[in-house]
Amino acid sequence: MTGSADGTDDPAIPDVVGVAGGGRMGVGIAHAFLLAGASVIVLERDDEAASQARVGLLRAARASIDRGATPETFDALEARMSFTASADPLAGTGLVIEAVPEDLVLKLEVLARVEAVLPGDAWLASNTSSLSIDDIAATLDRPDRFCGLHFFNPVPASSLVEIVRGARSAPSLIEAARGWVAAIGKTPIVVKDSPGFASSRLGVVLALEAIRMLEEGVASADDIDTAMVLGYKFPVGPLHLTDLVGLDVRLGIADYLESTLGERFAAPALLREKVAEGKLGRKSGEGFFTWPE
Ligand SMILES: NC(=O)c1ccc[n+]([C@@H]2O[C@H](COP(=O)([O-])OP(=O)(O)OC[C@H]3O[C@@H](n4cnc5c(N)ncnc54)[C@H](O)[C@@H]3O)[C@@H](O)[C@H]2O)c1
Repeated sequence: MTGSADGTDDPAIPDVVGVAGGGRMGVGIAHAFLLAGASVIVLERDDEAASQARVGLLRAARASIDRGATPETFDALEARMSFTASADPLAGTGLVIEAVPEDLVLKLEVLARVEAVLPGDAWLASNTSSLSIDDIAATLDRPDRFCGLHFFNPVPASSLVEIVRGARSAPSLIEAARGWVAAIGKTPIVVKDSPGFASSRLGVVLALEAIRMLEEGVASADDIDTAMVLGYKFPVGPLHLTDLVGLDVRLGIADYLESTLGERFAAPALLREKVAEGKLGRKSGEGFFTWPE
């Protein structure tokens, strides 16, 4: 078990943590474990993607030093990170978190490659935001050593991690996962494997109702959001948040939740219209609000 950044032994974190997929989330997850004292190995699909992940993690390490988030030197952090396009180095890890794109076939292929080289006592987790942990576990050799670890974006600024407990996840895994999440300075919640976990299910239902209210002319977008910000102390309103997440992303989740949990998640026509018009929120410049460059 690893010695942490402040020099104390932190038994909660494996010495070496692997991350499969070094994109937006994977780099953030690797960075969180690096700062907590672990060595990290990032698996990418090819050498070029591995170099890009390296650039991202070095930049994140530099930023955390600049804002005083770690007492470690840049060289010390750099010495504990490595990047690979081959799964073999993951044989030395105690935990691997998969963060490749949200495509079940791709995830199963990557998890099978990783599981094939992992020591029998290592843990495996997926950062999936919507896929069923039980469906994934059914394809693994050691489903009891697998759970969901759902991080939020951007990882450094988000304090929540959902631990998704599959039907076959070992109780000792869930306890260990609570320890990992606490050790990286975040707060865990434990959710049974079910569509939308806790966060997407609640977040989407609020957004859908806000969109229906806008459709019915109950109030303006600004006023609907202000009701939640001032009335209920939400940091941002549900329509503003939908613009940040992306209307297309929220529509995809709503469709999935409708198919799994029922009609109450049916997307309002206004959401479909905006997505069809390419009004996807901040990333396209317009959603429920306009977003100048
Ligand atoms: N972006 C978010 O807001 C967010 C939030 C929570 C969870 N998630 C989930 O996290 C996961 C990753 O999302 P992201 O936004 O980081 O995606 P991303 O596209 O930024 O990163 C995915 C990375 O995986 C790599 N990859 C692709 N195929 C690979 C392979 N065969 N082996 C190894 N690496 C491979 C890609 O090169 C890329 O760098 C998804 O499951 C997503 O649903 C995303």
